Amino acid sequence: MSPPDSDRLAAIRSALMAWYAVHARALPWRMPPGSPQRTDPYRVWLSEVMLQQTTVPHATPYFQAFIARWPTVGALAAAPDEAVMGAWAGLGYYARARNLLACARAVAREHGGVFPDTEDGLRALPGLGAYTAAAVAAIAFGRRAVVVDGNVERVMARLFTVNTPLPKARPELRALADALTPEPEAFDPGDWAQALMDLGSRICRPRSPLCGTCPLAGGCQAWASGTPEVWPKKLAKVPKPRREGVVWVLLDEAGRVGLLKRPDKGLLGGMLGLPTSGWDTGEGGPPVAADWRDVGTVRHVFTHFELALTVMRAEGEAANMIWREVAEAGATLPTVFRKALMRALA
Ligand code: ADE
Repeated sequence: MSPPDSDRLAAIRSALMAWYAVHARALPWRMPPGSPQRTDPYRVWLSEVMLQQTTVPHATPYFQAFIARWPTVGALAAAPDEAVMGAWAGLGYYARARNLLACARAVAREHGGVFPDTEDGLRALPGLGAYTAAAVAAIAFGRRAVVVDGNVERVMARLFTVNTPLPKARPELRALADALTPEPEAFDPGDWAQALMDLGSRICRPRSPLCGTCPLAGGCQAWASGTPEVWPKKLAKVPKPRREGVVWVLLDEAGRVGLLKRPDKGLLGGMLGLPTSGWDTGEGGPPVAADWRDVGTVRHVFTHFELALTVMRAEGEAANMIWREVAEAGATLPTVFRKALMRALA
């Protein structure tokens, strides 16, 4: 691949930043474009970790709730694990919440509550990956960093019609993003990173991109081809493996539901949950002997597999369980258990 022409890169940069100056979304973790102030690194880091997991509309109330409850990284570091895992419930992929806490505690303990201000320094923190380090370095500290998420990969693949399929195309897409990333003297690195993200999520959408309103259409090879949505090219999807199991919903006379803490290792590790059988083996029986009734099946798609759980319901007591009001359990349990609880109560 020959490097793109420097005049073309310069034209793309100017067009994107002119668009962002007018169309930037106002977000609670973002300074308006061109602002001399920078966002607190804690807010940038927290928002970026959440946004790797979900969309801006879904993440925003979680972000607000975290900031209200733990206004600083020190406050988050001091929070009990269970409180943070509970507040994360509904964002999915709980390993991220565990990494979030590990990182907050390292910042509090080893850096006096102050985030390192370089990409390398950030990358050295536990649980803080390459994407997050680049995003925080650019947005919170104004450093030149190549910030590449799925949105940015799509924009690069289309601007330069990269025909290598994902995931093999990643290094090529990153090299293009690097070539396009301006010097900090020309454009603010945080504004640049967020402009590309906004363009990727709002205009250069995966399906039906809005090329008619895209500031970069004139310099976009995919647009010129007439079928922009065929990029990025992808290898055919391998279907996710399916697993099956049983989940038990035990309700006491006061209408509370019986929960168990899951083992620390593995999926949803350390979280409170409904008792289940093993998901690989189907091994394990109900938490107590009771008049269990099959009330249906719930399905949930995890990152690496699809799970179908048969929901069993009974009324009874069990001394070794943790009892929670149904409303509280419904608000704080991981989504797969919430689905099972709803099914049992329907
Ligand atoms: N997606 C990931 N990070 C983002 C940000 N800072 N702004 C908008 N969308 C994003």
